[in-house]
Formats: sequence, C-alpha cells, structure tokens
Amino acid sequence: MTSQAEAVAPRSSLPVAVSVQKVDMTFDGFQAVKGASFDLAEGRFLTILGPSGSGKTTLLRMIAGFQRPSAGEIFINGVPVSAAPPHKRSIGMVFQKLALFPHMTAAENVAFPLKMRRFDANTIPERVKRYLDLVQLGPYADRRIHQLSGGQQQRVAIARALVFEPDLLLLDEPLAALDRKLREEMQLEFRRIQRELGVTTINVTHDQREALVVSDEVIVMDKGVIQQNAAPAQTYRTPANAFVAGFIGVTNFLSGKVVAVEGANLTYEAAGEAMQGHWSAPGAPQLGATVTGALRAEQIRLAASVAELSACQTVKTGVVTDAIFEGERIVYEIALTGAPGTVLRAFDHDPVTHKQFAIGETMAMGWNARDVLTFPN
Ligand SMILES: Nc1ncnc2c1ncn2[C@@H]1O[C@H](COP(=O)(O)OP(=O)(O)O)[C@@H](O)[C@H]1O
Ligand SMILES: [Mg+2]
Repeated sequence: MTSQAEAVAPRSSLPVAVSVQKVDMTFDGFQAVKGASFDLAEGRFLTILGPSGSGKTTLLRMIAGFQRPSAGEIFINGVPVSAAPPHKRSIGMVFQKLALFPHMTAAENVAFPLKMRRFDANTIPERVKRYLDLVQLGPYADRRIHQLSGGQQQRVAIARALVFEPDLLLLDEPLAALDRKLREEMQLEFRRIQRELGVTTINVTHDQREALVVSDEVIVMDKGVIQQNAAPAQTYRTPANAFVAGFIGVTNFLSGKVVAVEGANLTYEAAGEAMQGHWSAPGAPQLGATVTGALRAEQIRLAASVAELSACQTVKTGVVTDAIFEGERIVYEIALTGAPGTVLRAFDHDPVTHKQFAIGETMAMGWNARDVLTFPN
C-alpha cells in the first residue's frame, strides 16, 4: 500500500526548485525506481530515507543528471535535467567517498571548483576563506587533506560542494562512514549550514534519526517506490503504511482479523485476544479483513500490576523475556500472556527511580486504542 495523499499538500509558497515527474529507472528488466514523483520548493532540505537497495542513490543520480530515467522527467528550476551535461548544472555534491585531492591543502581543494568554473582569480582567495570559515575550518586552510581528521575532511568536502554557490546540494550518505558521535555532530552542522545559506538540499540516508533531525521534508522509499512524503514529525506520528511505521521508530506489530468496526475505531483479534485499534489508511476497514496494528514502544505504559494502569484503554500482562539497561532507558521485551510467541518491546524512561524487572517476572502493559495505528495487510 502506498499513500502519497499528504505529498500534495503545499508546504511552501516558494518556487519549485526540483520537480520529479513519474520517474522510472529500469536496469535489465529490474525496476530500481518506480513512478517517483515529488516537488521540492526552493531552500528546503529534503531527505530520501530507505533501506539499502531501495533506489535512493539511483533517484539521486538521475536528479544529478548522471543517469537518464527510463521514463518520466526531472526539472531543476523548470529546466529539464537532460538538457545540460553534468558539469554545466549548478549542483554541489558530497558522497560517502569524499574524493578530495590528498596532495592539496584544504584551501586548494575548496578553490578547485572555482578554477574549473573560471571564476575571476582575484576573487577566489576571499571566497575560499568565507566557505572555510562557514565550515569552521579557517585555521586549517593550509593543512593537507591527510593532516585532517575524518570530520575535518568532511567539512572540506562540504565547503568544496558549496563554494561556487550551486542552486542545489546533493548528499549521498556522506556521514555513513563516521562514528556515531561525529555523525550526530555533522548532522547538526549540515542543518546549520543549510539554514545559513538557504541552499535547496536533497540528502540520502538509511539512518532514520538523521532524516528526522536534519530535514524539512522526508521521503521514505522502499523497493523503488515512494511510500510517504511528509514533514519529519508527520512521518513519525502518522506513517502512511506499515512499512513506514516499522522503518522509523521502535514499533510493535500485531496482526489479526477485524471483528468490529465503529467509524475509524476497530476491534480485531490478534494472538487470540481482542485488540482495539485506529484505522490509519485510506478507505474503511472491512469486517473479516486481516489488518496489522502498529504500536510504538514508547506508547506502552509499564507497571507491576494491572491496577496501576486503569487510565489505559487496553491493559495486558506479559512475562519479561529480556531487559536491556541503556542508561537513559530500559528496553523491555515482554511475551504477551496467552500468546507467548508475541513479544512486545516497551521502554521505561525513568530507570533511575524505577526498579528493573528481571527476566521471568510478570509486568502489566497499557496503551490507548488511538496509538494502535491499523493498516490493511
Ligand atoms: N547500474 C546498475 N545496474 C544494475 N542494477 C543497479 C544499478 N544501480 C543500481 N542497481 C540496483 O538498483 C537497486 C537500487 O539501488 P540503489 O539506488 O543503489 O539503492 P540504495 O541507494 O537505496 O541503496 C539495487 O537493487 C541495485 O542493485
Ligand atoms: Mg545508495
């Protein structure tokens, strides 16, 4: 099931910078991208998020003009991408492989695209300095690439992609190889720089956290198809389908047959128990249809006894099968009573005050029907 209903809602009155229209890409009969369509307004930061092999790089390469779509068309500022060769397009790029010149200094690397584009030689040093300052590398201008840390090299690559002031910045997992702390720092850097310059940006990643943190808009892809195109919080709160619900966040899935429907509220039988859920797809739920309920781990309240969860609409018990102490939270895995094969994940966000339950102990779990986002199978 795909739903792009939210994609068409205008989120900006700015001119469209990138327009992708019904784009397919087929390699020897294999469809890597199927019917991709979206518009991106000027100055926005879009992230294309999806698992490995979902078609993200293929879509980005078509936008860059490295690859011609098998069908459909892509426009940048209203001009078809296919009309100009790659080096004539005003696009800055940073990939996982930075492709910096190791024998040159940081400043020489940043100056390179300006020389290529025949900028007035008198203006180059000032501009290089401005962009090195932007990425906070001013003091490192004369260091050679191999004398810089991984994070600093990343910054050189960003400055080099931006120094000629392109209309569009394309990023293909440039942070994937960095360790977690540096990656999270660089994510915030990307966001700061992008806001400062206002350059239209398309970023590709498989990291859901990165997508939520850096973007104005997130496109989720799976198997070559755009599953959702929405603001980050909307993607998280109202996923378009079970794939998106599972790809972003820690999500429990409970499938079963619908036994009662009342408007958007439904009851279905999962793991031998009646479950209340909220219909979260177009159309209406059908009696007898098989559906999947998606319940975020953080929406489950935990307690020692059922009595403590009287405020929750649904209360179940289960036996702890794993308890992982992560510092700021404990992650529990709890097998539902009466359905030992059904294990739910839930968090305790106050591990300082609360006792940690041990494997084999019984816990009570509670949640509300509206938090069980229910989709057709
Ligand atoms: N040049 C190519 N020839 C054949 N298959 C390709 C080519 N490029 C990509 N693919 C296939 O297309 C699918 C999507 O690839 P890609 O766009 O690189 O995914 P992602 O970037 O999301 O990991 C993969 O199954 C990949 O093997
Ligand atoms: Mg890729």
